[in-house]
Amino acid sequence: MNAETVRSQLKTLKLHTAAAELQEVLDQHKKAVSLSWISDLLEREIDSRRERALMTRIKKANFPEITTLETFDWSFNPQIDENRIRQIAGMDFIANNQICLFLGQPGTGKTHLALAIGVLAANRGYRVYCNSIKRLAEDMLRAKAKNNLDTLFKKILSARLWIFDDWGVTTMSREVAEEIFDLLDRRKHSSAMILTSNRDIDEWPQVFPDPVIANATIDRIFDRADISIFKGTSYRLKGKIEVKNVNSKMRHK
Ligand SMILES: Nc1ncnc2c1ncn2[C@@H]1O[C@H](COP(=O)(O)OP(=O)(O)OP(=O)(O)O)[C@@H](O)[C@H]1O
Ligand SMILES: [Mg+2]
Repeated sequence: MNAETVRSQLKTLKLHTAAAELQEVLDQHKKAVSLSWISDLLEREIDSRRERALMTRIKKANFPEITTLETFDWSFNPQIDENRIRQIAGMDFIANNQICLFLGQPGTGKTHLALAIGVLAANRGYRVYCNSIKRLAEDMLRAKAKNNLDTLFKKILSARLWIFDDWGVTTMSREVAEEIFDLLDRRKHSSAMILTSNRDIDEWPQVFPDPVIANATIDRIFDRADISIFKGTSYRLKGKIEVKNVNSKMRHK
């Protein structure tokens, strides 16, 4: 254990004066001071601050549930590109403010994997904003009515990763469509985004009030986007299909 380790720990804890004056204090105390106990103590403080910061980020991200890559059964729908998803989970797309689109059939794990990547991002220290498009629309209208749409925009724009779930499920009023366009237009240089949708891309324009805003918004969603297609059977039906098979087998006996 040396003074440099302790100095770096003090800096991590933003105890800048203590870091700057450490050598002077050690010199004053002359005797060979053991630094290991203080370093252990500081490490505990650093760990607990990291843990608290992570909890705050997870809470603020508003994840509807905490999922992980480890609990995902890749063999269930083998057409889902595991390597690609693991590459995305490597987080380079966040550093590059890129868009990842998770598109495909219901129940195939788009939300599960988007949330798992969001949790990993929060672990890495990134601020995450997670919402379904339907709730985002409601939040926008509520904020507008209270005259604090700016606060909502600031909150979203200050997150490095946006997760927008269930794109295309509900149609948008002009008011909402214009705000969502504005938000997506302002994203480019500040945030990455994962957007999930089970709706066919050809049908996306139908959720907008007119083709002009539809084209402009869809154009921004596909800007340098990385597309992962989710093909397969709904995991929601997994147990039910087995139950059905068991039932029919029993009936045939
Ligand atoms: N391959 C899988 N392994 C383990 N759990 C899975 C798998 N695929 C989906 N699930 C689980 O099935 C449920 C449905 O998955 P999820 O919500 O991610 O589907 P989705 O693709 O977002 O569907 P939708 O388009 O309807 O929103 C979730 O509880 C999820 O954890
Ligand atoms: Mg989903």
